[in-house]
Amino acid sequence: MKTSTNLLLLLLGISFCQFANAQESVKPYHEQYRPQVHFSPKAHWTNDPNGMVHFKGTYHLFFQYYPSGTTWGPMHWGHAISKDLLHWNELPIALYPDSLGYIFSGSAVVDSNNTSGFGKNGKTPLVAIFTHHDPKGEKAQKDNFQNESLAYSLDEGRTWTKYAGNPVLKNPGIRDFRDPKVMWYAKEKKWVMTLATKDHITFYSSPDLKSWKKESEFGKEVGAHGGVWECPDLFPLSLNGKTYWVLIVNLNPGGPNGGSATQYFIGQFDGKSFTAIDNKTQWLDYGPDEYAGITWSNTGNRKIFLGWMSNWDYANQVPTVKWRNAMTIPRELSLFEFEGTLYVKSTPVKELRFVEQKKTQSIVSKLPERLPGQCFVRLNVDHSVDCSITLSNQKGEKLIIGYDKSKDQYFIDRTKSGKVDFAKNFSRIAYAPRFSKTKESEIGLLIDRSSVELFADRGRTVMTSIFFPSAPYEHIDLKSLRITQLIPLNGIW
Ligand code: FRU
Repeated sequence: MKTSTNLLLLLLGISFCQFANAQESVKPYHEQYRPQVHFSPKAHWTNDPNGMVHFKGTYHLFFQYYPSGTTWGPMHWGHAISKDLLHWNELPIALYPDSLGYIFSGSAVVDSNNTSGFGKNGKTPLVAIFTHHDPKGEKAQKDNFQNESLAYSLDEGRTWTKYAGNPVLKNPGIRDFRDPKVMWYAKEKKWVMTLATKDHITFYSSPDLKSWKKESEFGKEVGAHGGVWECPDLFPLSLNGKTYWVLIVNLNPGGPNGGSATQYFIGQFDGKSFTAIDNKTQWLDYGPDEYAGITWSNTGNRKIFLGWMSNWDYANQVPTVKWRNAMTIPRELSLFEFEGTLYVKSTPVKELRFVEQKKTQSIVSKLPERLPGQCFVRLNVDHSVDCSITLSNQKGEKLIIGYDKSKDQYFIDRTKSGKVDFAKNFSRIAYAPRFSKTKESEIGLLIDRSSVELFADRGRTVMTSIFFPSAPYEHIDLKSLRITQLIPLNGIW
């Protein structure tokens, strides 16, 4: 009896070790579903991109991060840097929670004129402006537990000092009072903060990042209000020699395909208030999986956008093991006009070419035997018929991306894409309108291990969708469309 129990325990022990070894033997960044051309933290939970700033040739990406688990928890700012927006090097955690609370989302600026006085010995300070979220105040059902604070770095973001005078902007009694995005308004030599304040945006200004004055409010009665307004951004873009201001407002829930999404307004900003040209709701990305997207600061005329590639409907449940959630591909934003209305379009940053493999296939009739793990596919679409591209595996799991002529809409159908039942709202077909009338058009698809980003009509309609097949998709089937280019991509890790 004793011997057989020992034997059983021994066998159990051996199989456990084998299991543990199998898990450990997967190289970091190569686990199942790990994106190969998108940023994700080496381990643990992430949500919003934060503090994105370009400084001395380096792109900094901070991100909402919980270093002790793979679900949302007390927020820190993780940190990664890149020279080309594609290859990322994760650095130690930049900001830890403290007595004022968790470190929620925010932005970072290069304070070139040392308006803050944080600069010492001629060193230019990087200043982070973020929300301190006090969990105790939240628990006690107070309404002022979110306040805006500062931290600065004099060593190119490697170490950060929190400002002793935090918080610099106190909550006037609004439960949702967060995600400051700060920019330098050169015309009046002042900083402007765009802040999400529950169901509207409040603009503040400051000479030194430390003292803030309320300027105006925007949005209570316009745009989408299916949920709370979060993570805003404000910046100018030009079209045909005229400058317009774009106001980004992330919204959760209430997106066009359920849950979280990024809406925007186009208008004018005079240093005090924002006026929209029209009050139509516009979406930067119609897919279910781009959220909290904002732009890098200090990138000159280029406006580079990055979103979190997930959705609060199921972000805590997606079936990854070591880490949870990733960022979209960085995208360059610009304006276009369609039928008398201005819109924002997005295209993958040109740096994507740094990961393109030489053996680009220009295929017209012959499909590849096997879909590369990550690739960029260009398709030629004839809009007079329904058309689609299906990615599938031998288990019959499939992802369908297409154009529905009767609706004049693009769609991504992941209802049979693999694991879909880990959360109730994951299995869905997402639709998006078309903003062009041409008979033919080009679609670009950026396909990674567990995501696809659709850039239709050269970025006029964008959709991001994640998926979790039980084996990689290896086959492509085409219905009424033509692949003009298939570019395998090198992994970034
Ligand atoms: C958006 C958001 C922000 C907040 C952060 C907390 O996804 O809810 O409003 O600052 O996440 O992690």
